[in-house]
Amino acid sequence: MNETIELLKNHRSVRAFKLGRDVNEAQVEAIIKAAMAAPNWINGQQVSVIEVRDSKKKSTLANAAGNQRWVEEAPVFLVFCIDFYRAKLAAEKNGTQFQIVEDLEALIIGSTDVGIALGSAVIAAESMGLGTVPIGGIRRNPQTFVELLDLPEYVFPVSGLVIGHPKTIPDQKPRMPLKATHQKEQYNANIQREVIDQYDQTISTYMTERTSGQDSSNWSSKIANFYDAGFDQYSKNSSPTIKNQGFHYK
Ligand SMILES: Cc1cc2nc3c(=O)[nH]c(=O)nc-3n(C[C@H](O)[C@H](O)[C@H](O)COP(=O)(O)O)c2cc1C
Repeated sequence: MNETIELLKNHRSVRAFKLGRDVNEAQVEAIIKAAMAAPNWINGQQVSVIEVRDSKKKSTLANAAGNQRWVEEAPVFLVFCIDFYRAKLAAEKNGTQFQIVEDLEALIIGSTDVGIALGSAVIAAESMGLGTVPIGGIRRNPQTFVELLDLPEYVFPVSGLVIGHPKTIPDQKPRMPLKATHQKEQYNANIQREVIDQYDQTISTYMTERTSGQDSSNWSSKIANFYDAGFDQYSKNSSPTIKNQGFHYK
């Protein structure tokens, strides 16, 4: 259709990087500029990105994110944070109450802004031939990130983004058929179960090929397990840090 759409449709997360191949400062700056040019809520710019290159720091953060080795193997690790610290300064400057952090809306606003910025960063990096993988695993131990990155109140780390030169590029992970995810005029809940049955087959085949037969798990089992016990560490550690950072939603 056009180059941008082809790039978007060709996306895949990369978890194997060429060791010793740097991503230079100009590239990182271009990626962050692209991310910050994205739409954001009331132009409040509720996102900050911390660039981490220090090997020791990356190694500690890789462990905190659930032993994700690619965090330390790639040259650049960006940490995307919800940031209401500047909004707090704006409230102080203007002598107003800073009420937003008492509401769950703050997290919806911040997470949306982070998600959009992260998406733009992924595409900017891919447009330069780089590989990326977002790291939501940082919320397994967000307090480690707060302390190591010196995050002030009203700043919370939502997702990392690993950036490097791909060593291998995996096959593209198939998505659900559009009839499930793109509905017209109204939501049709009746078709979803049938789509899941088909998609379970698709993902099981994909996983079998990708892991040379070691893992043939399907989509629904993976999702069901994650939203059962797989979520434990996030639920134990994420909310307390969010609250420590000053978000006191009810
Ligand atoms: C917010 C977010 C957090 C993610 N966290 C992780 C992570 O911690 N570790 C990981 O290996 N992949 C992570 N991913 C990558 C997803 O697993 C991946 O995007 C998904 O399986 C689809 O595969 P694809 O990106 O190759 O199409 C994350 C993706 C997003 C959007």
